[in-house]
Amino acid sequence: MAEFSLPKNSKITEGKTWPKPADATRITAFRIYRWSPDDEANPRVDTYYVDRGDCGPMVLDALIWIKNNIDPTLTFRRSCREGICGSCAMNIDGANTLACTRAIDDEKRDVVKIYPLPHQPVVKDLVPDLTNFYAQYASIQPWLQTVTPDPEKERKQSHDDRAKLDGHYECILCACCSTACPSYWWNSDRYLGPAALLQAHRWIIDSRDEATGERLDNLEDPFRLYRCHTILNCAKVCPKGLNPAKAIADIKKNLVDRQV
Ligand code: SF4
Ligand code: SF4
Ligand code: FES
Repeated sequence: MAEFSLPKNSKITEGKTWPKPADATRITAFRIYRWSPDDEANPRVDTYYVDRGDCGPMVLDALIWIKNNIDPTLTFRRSCREGICGSCAMNIDGANTLACTRAIDDEKRDVVKIYPLPHQPVVKDLVPDLTNFYAQYASIQPWLQTVTPDPEKERKQSHDDRAKLDGHYECILCACCSTACPSYWWNSDRYLGPAALLQAHRWIIDSRDEATGERLDNLEDPFRLYRCHTILNCAKVCPKGLNPAKAIADIKKNLVDRQV
C-alpha cells in the first residue's frame, strides 16, 4: 500500500495569540496563516483580535488594522481596495476570494480564518508566488495578432462582436479560479488552468484577431486544455461572477468545429 507523508516543514503549528484590544465593545477574532522564509520555522497560525468599532467592514480593512495596530510584520498584497486589481486574492473561511470585497460579517462566524491562495508556493504570509500563473497567461499571447495590413485608423468591431467579449474582459487575473481548481492543483506545471484559458478564449473569439488557428493549435494538447474535468470550482469562486468552465468548454467546441 502506498504511504504518504508530509515534509516536516509543511506542518502548520499553533502560533501566537495577540492580546485583545482594550476598551473595545465589539471584537472579531482572525486566525491568520504566517510564514516567513527568514525564520527557518514551520508555518503557524496567529490569532488577532480586531476592534470592530475602529475598523472598516471588509476583511482587507481588518488586515490593514492588524498591520497598523498590532503586528506590522503581517504581509499581504493589496492595491485598489475596489475589486479591480486582483492583488488581495486569498483564501477566506475556506473559499478563494478578494479580501477587499468580502465583508467581515459575510460568514456570520466569530472567527475569520485566512490563508494564502492554495497550492501555490508562498513568498511570505498571505503572498503567493504567482510566477507560473503569469507565465501561463503570457503563453496564450494575450494581445491582438493580425496579418492583414493595418487600416489607416483602427480595426473596427461591430456591437454584436464586441458583446461576445462580455464575460471575458472583466477578468482581473486574481487567480482565485485557477488556485481553486483541483486539476490545476495536481498539474499546474502543464495544465493552463481556468484563468489563462478564459483569456485564451477571449482572443479566440475576438473578431479582429487573425491568429485563431495558431491559438487553437497551441491549446490542442492533452494537458494544456484537456485537464479540465468540468468540476466548476472556478465558476463558483470567481469574485467577478465569470464562468471560466464555459469558456473552456467553448474552446473544446471550437477545436471540434474546425475538424468538421
Ligand atoms: S476568471 Fe475570475 S477568478 Fe479567475 S482570474 Fe479572472 S477574475 Fe479571477
Ligand atoms: S471546471 Fe475545469 S477549470 Fe474549472 S475548476 Fe473544474 S476542472 Fe478546473
Ligand atoms: S485590493 Fe485590488 S482587488 Fe482587492
